Amino acid sequence: MKKIKQSWAEPYKIKMVELLKMTTVAQRKKALKEAGYNTFLLRSEDVYIDLLTDSGTSAMSDRQWAGMMMGDEAYAGSRNFYHLEEVVRDVYGYKYLIPTHQGRGAENILSKVLIKKGDIIPGNMYFTTTRLHQELAGGKFEDVIIDEAHDPENTFPFKGNVDLNKLKSLIKKHGAPKIPYVSIATSVNMAGGQPISMKNLKELRALTKKHHIRIIHDMTRVAENAYFIQQKEKGYADRSIKSIVKEICSLTDGATMSAKKDALVNIGGFLAVNDYDVYEEARNMVVVYEGLHTYGGLAGRDMEAMAIGIKESVGDEHIKARIGQVIYLGEKMMHYGVPIVQPIGGHGIFVDAKKFLPHIPQDQFPAQTLAAEMYLDSGVRTMERGVVSAGRKPNGENYYPKLELVRFTIPRRVYTQAHMDVIAESAARVYERRDAIKGMKMVYEPKYLRFFQARFEKL
Ligand code: F0G
Repeated sequence: MKKIKQSWAEPYKIKMVELLKMTTVAQRKKALKEAGYNTFLLRSEDVYIDLLTDSGTSAMSDRQWAGMMMGDEAYAGSRNFYHLEEVVRDVYGYKYLIPTHQGRGAENILSKVLIKKGDIIPGNMYFTTTRLHQELAGGKFEDVIIDEAHDPENTFPFKGNVDLNKLKSLIKKHGAPKIPYVSIATSVNMAGGQPISMKNLKELRALTKKHHIRIIHDMTRVAENAYFIQQKEKGYADRSIKSIVKEICSLTDGATMSAKKDALVNIGGFLAVNDYDVYEEARNMVVVYEGLHTYGGLAGRDMEAMAIGIKESVGDEHIKARIGQVIYLGEKMMHYGVPIVQPIGGHGIFVDAKKFLPHIPQDQFPAQTLAAEMYLDSGVRTMERGVVSAGRKPNGENYYPKLELVRFTIPRRVYTQAHMDVIAESAARVYERRDAIKGMKMVYEPKYLRFFQARFEKL
């Protein structure tokens, strides 16, 4: 008898739905023009399927909603803070917790505590807010990710790995005292949601230990990274996601977390560290920028939803379905010939805009253009992750990243397989008429994180 495959499916059923507005091409054309061809400036009401980000857009469970009703809104010492602290210790293993309003709040505090002017912060590819906070604190980010990560067609399974030789030469050049920490993201966002392997992380731990350099973990999508380790790394097939997550964290000294991703909440984040000294200084600083150290800019109910979300986020069935859906979309797009970053990453599909629109030079914003065209075609909202996102260096020059991508980010537990079909078909339609698509020029550029608010015109 032929063995019939066992498909993934959602380990939940739908209890409540949110109705969507359908729009016409004429309406979308108008909306796009008003938004300066920047998908961040569209009104969400005018969007049919929203793949702008997986940040804060996931669906909470009935248990999380029940937790929201159990908010202890005391100014100090909320019960929900202690619950969150207990969960962070249990699931991630970090000793000290400081809640923040979201990930960048934690990045701000951590950068201010650990970075001195002139310091070097090596990392496995930059992330927009992370690097900016490092720079604002006087540091300089240096990319030490393996070269494979910059090649959208390279199918190496752990494109989030650190090139230890690149790191060694930085240590040699600047000296370890100039490097306060190595900034390590799990599921490297800008590379396409690419994982780091446990083996690489262990080697990195050994090297940094030798030089007394900390590892700070951007653990925003750590459970998704753990899934790829479970599926692809030797020796981890029988391990639970929860145990892999804990092992990853154990190889690092502290973490910043945007709980709006993995942890299944609409708002929230934290800083977690093992050093008491770092904790003490960060706890002092959080009251300046976020709020008292037992709420850090969050309501008690938000901390409760986060505590429950963290527990759900490391469920094996949850992650299998979450990434199963992303892979389903990616394979469907590949079936239509749409060029995407491979291997398929954890939180979305990244379309290679340089390859999709080879006739548009990078300074005419191919990825920005493609995101606009996707919206026009079907009301699907995606996001540029290329030259606009990369921004400018402290000296004012543009960064020209090798990767010029459009991110189709999948919110967790929100859309169905039929939605995935509609998205892939729309991408295929735009691909069919790619030769007729023209680039754009930037007509307004904000000083910080320009991709959020920049405006464009069609050439
Ligand atoms: N680190 C990573 C890897 C992220 O992806 C993000 C946010 C942050 C830090 C900052 O966290 O938004 O809570 O302040 N990424 C969002 C995205 C914005 O769409 O990828 P935050």
